[in-house]
Amino acid sequence: MKFSGKTAVITGGGSGIGRGTCLKLAGEGAKVIVADINEAAANQVAKEIKEKGGTARAFKLDVTNYAEIEKLGNQVKKDFGFIDFWINDAGVSKILPFFEHTEEIWDQTIAVNLKGQFLCCKVAIAQMLENGGGNIVNMSSQSGKVGTSNYQAYCASKFGVIGLTQSLSKEFAGKGIRVNAVCPGVVYTSMWEKQEADYAAKRNLDPHKVMDYFKDKIPANRIGTVNDVTNTITFLLSNESSYITGQAINVNGGDIMF
Ligand SMILES: NC(=O)c1ccc[n+]([C@@H]2O[C@H](COP(=O)([O-])OP(=O)(O)OC[C@H]3O[C@@H](n4cnc5c(N)ncnc54)[C@H](O)[C@@H]3O)[C@@H](O)[C@H]2O)c1
Repeated sequence: MKFSGKTAVITGGGSGIGRGTCLKLAGEGAKVIVADINEAAANQVAKEIKEKGGTARAFKLDVTNYAEIEKLGNQVKKDFGFIDFWINDAGVSKILPFFEHTEEIWDQTIAVNLKGQFLCCKVAIAQMLENGGGNIVNMSSQSGKVGTSNYQAYCASKFGVIGLTQSLSKEFAGKGIRVNAVCPGVVYTSMWEKQEADYAAKRNLDPHKVMDYFKDKIPANRIGTVNDVTNTITFLLSNESSYITGQAINVNGGDIMF
């Protein structure tokens, strides 16, 4: 197994892409820390992993709270050893016309999607430096490369993630720490379940036709799967990508190409 003996923290691990990442890394032998603000969801994923014979622990974590992140980092080091992999997956998303984008939505989106990754990297990188190396994957988005309407806070946060990723990778590449970002297109998770109606309103579509709309638009003629993204994350965490750092990798069926 590729990741035997490795300790991996996945924020947002209770649902969607984060959940898929937890299951995948556990399947490759990693000790998996499922960290999510939704404690019940984190518990459920850890339980699933343990039932399959893997090693996992659930933590309730709000990525906007530095004290909680620090506490998690110390506990993981004590119980599982140094953190080798940190996947910053926790995220929130709101599709709304600009004048309905309240200051509260802006603050919340930037706090979770961007500042949360910055705070988590502080704890992750401190341990990785002590341990002589490590690997971080930050979840950005296609919306971190191209701005779309009704999506100001989310796009700003995901563009920011790419800047954060590049800056960290430059600073720590010489210390054996790689930092990359992943930029998925559309993957149908609970995030899309919640925002499908708002997207339909923006494009004047029947809410049930939103995914068909994307399918027609994407060159590969399908939306992405959780597996498409977790395969990319696994590659970035593996030694097969040992010369790749500071990159923002598209996983989008050919939708955008830069
Ligand atoms: N689904 C897509 O199409 C898509 C596309 C591009 C990027 N992404 C990004 O991928 C990541 C995962 O998205 P998903 O589609 O799996 O969404 P999801 O809603 O299924 O999962 C997000 C998880 O993050 C957790 N979370 C939210 N706020 C948190 C906080 N403050 N602290 C800790 N955990 C918190 C939620 O409880 C949830 O379990 C997000 O960063 C999202 O922006 C998703």
